[in-house]
Amino acid sequence: MIPFVKVSSGLSQGDLEGVKEFYTDSTVQPFFYDGPPPLYATIVSELIASLKPSSVLEFGCCAGRNLDLLRRRLGKARLVGLDVNRTAIDAGRRAFGLDLRVADESALANIPNSSFDVSFTVSVLDHIALPQQTIAKLADITRRFVITYEICNDQTGKIEAMQDAGGNIVDGYPFSYFHDYRSLFAKAGCWLLLDAALPAFSGSLGEFYRLQVHCRQQRDFGGTILRSVSAAAPPASPLQRGLNLLRKRASRFKRFRSHLKP
Ligand SMILES: C[S@@+](CC[C@H](N)C(=O)[O-])C[C@H]1O[C@@H](n2cnc3c(N)ncnc32)[C@H](O)[C@@H]1O
Repeated sequence: MIPFVKVSSGLSQGDLEGVKEFYTDSTVQPFFYDGPPPLYATIVSELIASLKPSSVLEFGCCAGRNLDLLRRRLGKARLVGLDVNRTAIDAGRRAFGLDLRVADESALANIPNSSFDVSFTVSVLDHIALPQQTIAKLADITRRFVITYEICNDQTGKIEAMQDAGGNIVDGYPFSYFHDYRSLFAKAGCWLLLDAALPAFSGSLGEFYRLQVHCRQQRDFGGTILRSVSAAAPPASPLQRGLNLLRKRASRFKRFRSHLKP
């Protein structure tokens, strides 16, 4: 069953200021993956790597654990992370030696248009009360794809209360919002190419996460994403390779036989 959430549409000035303060100082976010990364993080990094970008920006990168995963798949690409939280950025620079910078959405205005082939967010836009300008700027600085992994729901607004993993109704996670990303990105000139349910964890808000790919250029519409994912898929098993070889030989033999027919 879909977990209960109570969503309100009203936003106060306190929301806009409180959210920034909360994340600037917060140390509640885990900085690193303990053990193997969760499935969603693996899928996000594999999807990005399959597009073979030469430059990638993560907005709201925390200590850069997603960029670190990406670097293992994309050795040579230019990877940059921005986050409002200095403690996380300092910890990530020390741990990963990545190009991480302390910055909020206002810094996006200083980045020239189309500077990055791909930009992405993992649970960041859902902590911005009014994200239209941030989304427009992310679109501007991106040449091909903006990839988002955020909570989504039919109803948009602030999450006032939610069901926790034990089924109890509790206060919403501080400053979490459902947004309509399809229309926000459409206003920023992007086309939604892929929209997939991909729970981050079971129960509570974990069930609401979706992976979305927003496309900047018309030439990338159509099957680009699925083609690049399938081209990057691991080679077929020996059995599959054997079957493919047999199929090829059979069709060659059929063509050969048709030449012999009178
Ligand atoms: C839920 S955490 C996700 C962190 C990271 N994407 C990950 O998956 O490890 C949200 C992150 O967004 C950052 N953040 C929140 N609001 C931000 C803003 N306005 N500008 C930049 N970063 C922000 C927070 O500091 C925090 O690191």
